[in-house]
Amino acid sequence: MLRTHTCGELTAKHIPQVVSLCGWVERVRDMGQSTFIVLRDRYGKTQLVLPPDASNALREVVKQLKFEYVIRATGKVALRPAGQENPNLSTGEIELHLESVEILNECQTLPFLPSSPDVPSEESRLQFRYLDLRRDSMQRSLVLRSQITKKIRDYFERQGFIDIETPILGRSTPEGARDYLVPSRVHPGQFYALPQSPQIYKQLMMIAGYDRYVQIARCFRDEDLRADRQPEFTQLDMEMSFVDENDIMGMIDGLMQHLAREVLGLELKLPLPRMSYDEAMRRFGHDAPDLRYGLEIIDLTAWAKTTDFRVFRGTADAGNYVRALNVKGAAEAFSRKRIDELTTFVQGDFGAKGLAWMRLEANGWGGPIAKNFTEEQLQSLNKLVAAEPGDVILFVADSWETSCRTLHGLRRRLGAELQLYDPKEMNFSWVVRFPMFARDEEENRWAAMHHPFTAPLDEDLPKLESDPSGVRAKAYDLVLNGFEVGGGTIRIHDNPVQQRVFSLLGMSPEEAEHRFGFLLGALRYGAPPHGGIALGVDRLVMLFAGLDNIRDCITFPKTTRAQDLMTDAPNIVDERQLDELGLALKKQPTPE
Ligand code: AMO
Ligand code: AMP
Repeated sequence: MLRTHTCGELTAKHIPQVVSLCGWVERVRDMGQSTFIVLRDRYGKTQLVLPPDASNALREVVKQLKFEYVIRATGKVALRPAGQENPNLSTGEIELHLESVEILNECQTLPFLPSSPDVPSEESRLQFRYLDLRRDSMQRSLVLRSQITKKIRDYFERQGFIDIETPILGRSTPEGARDYLVPSRVHPGQFYALPQSPQIYKQLMMIAGYDRYVQIARCFRDEDLRADRQPEFTQLDMEMSFVDENDIMGMIDGLMQHLAREVLGLELKLPLPRMSYDEAMRRFGHDAPDLRYGLEIIDLTAWAKTTDFRVFRGTADAGNYVRALNVKGAAEAFSRKRIDELTTFVQGDFGAKGLAWMRLEANGWGGPIAKNFTEEQLQSLNKLVAAEPGDVILFVADSWETSCRTLHGLRRRLGAELQLYDPKEMNFSWVVRFPMFARDEEENRWAAMHHPFTAPLDEDLPKLESDPSGVRAKAYDLVLNGFEVGGGTIRIHDNPVQQRVFSLLGMSPEEAEHRFGFLLGALRYGAPPHGGIALGVDRLVMLFAGLDNIRDCITFPKTTRAQDLMTDAPNIVDERQLDELGLALKKQPTPE
């Protein structure tokens, strides 16, 4: 090997060895008498010193060094002069007195400096990803990712799971997104779908008797991208037989405790708290609430009916809701302008009709709508929102859905802006008992809230046909700091119930047979009760690393327009390739 040690390894105990290091030149400082070089590799940084008595030949080589040159440096490990130690570096007590330097490769002028604390533009970072990956923060997040996947594998192996790979080229697995399709050359006009998840295969593995399956699986979903979504992402996917919801949640509780302990040195108390979907929507307006802070939604609909304020009373009488947040002690921080900004925010981002507000001052309630209420009504409001002087109450009067969406959005924004939580806290919880179905208003039909293989709660099974909106599912989502990091369900394991669910989703027996015949068939051949879950590995790493963008935890991610700027994918293909696949383009590609 060209090196004897890495750049993160040398300490005083290596004095006075002669060692060789290889790495990238991060910085060269010419101090007249001596020259200092910071050499970096993925393990750390070491200071190299060209001593005053160095040979001319060595001096000449050092003179040529520029940013990001790759070199091999040989020299003697020595203590740094007193006062020059750097406690922030693992190698901060020593330096290397150079005896020879060999340039292994040069480096052209760079589009950005990986060693600079300034973060380059997202576009440059993605286009020159191999340089971006040299940055400390990217190296830290990839190392963390590798540790997390290793700990996950260790945990499941100890629990008796077997790691099983499932196909990438296959039939569509519905998870609510569009499929990525791959045309078949051998069967012109036919397509494989890339898996949105290994869902169907893992259920088939249960039927095959492999009762503890786990896989770290790549999934593909053609959906609108956001900071926490990529078209190609990684799931920790697991499935178990002869279990109920508690068994799956218990298994994942144990995994989270293991990861938090081993990776972050945090001790989680088990079981992780659980909350029903209904409660989450009522208290937080969202099915993945951030429980690091309060600022809970207060329902004032009944109170609104006792008032004569047109906006509130009208909304409540029409069967809609008046709900509020009490932003404690915000009176001073909330200028008129700030409230106007929040109003524009709720109207623009969530389609709310408006944002009404009042504040409790030392001598009573203030704000433009306060005059609409009697003293008695204000007294009862005081109790309902537990107001103290300095509090600001923000009211949203709207439909259930819009009030949930808006108050959740406000809560999130205010939580961050008013720093209501400790960014280092890791707050895990489960949200359980989701509705089975959600109404797809556009297509005027029921859609599966998770996926169509989810089992209803036993007590709700009788109302499957008569009251679909009231049927709850054996479903559970894992939430961490307000992000959904995982979701799973107990599955339907008998064919008749599966048929009933398909039919409720508007799928005729023929269509169900055509799309999922293999699964329906398998359910007839001795399917055990089973269930499982999948966690988003990229999201988990993002949150464990304290980052806010999933792209920073993926080696080669795509832009929000699903492009890889480095390899320039997707791209056009030769006419010949299209011919081979029996394809003709309806739309010509537009030059970007
Ligand atoms: P679900 O669709 O909830 O469940 O996905 C599980 C978890 O995968 C992560 N995830 C994503 N991460 C990044 N980018 C995306 N586009 C993306 N989509 C999902 C989320 C999510 O919680 N087969 C079921 C699991 C099961 O029932 O066992 C499934 O895929 O963290
Ligand atoms: P108006 O009388 O319509 O001017 O409304 C009085 C106040 O109530 C204004 O501050 C509006 O922004 C606010 N407002 C109007 N509609 C709603 C609503 N649906 N929910 C909450 N506030 C509203």
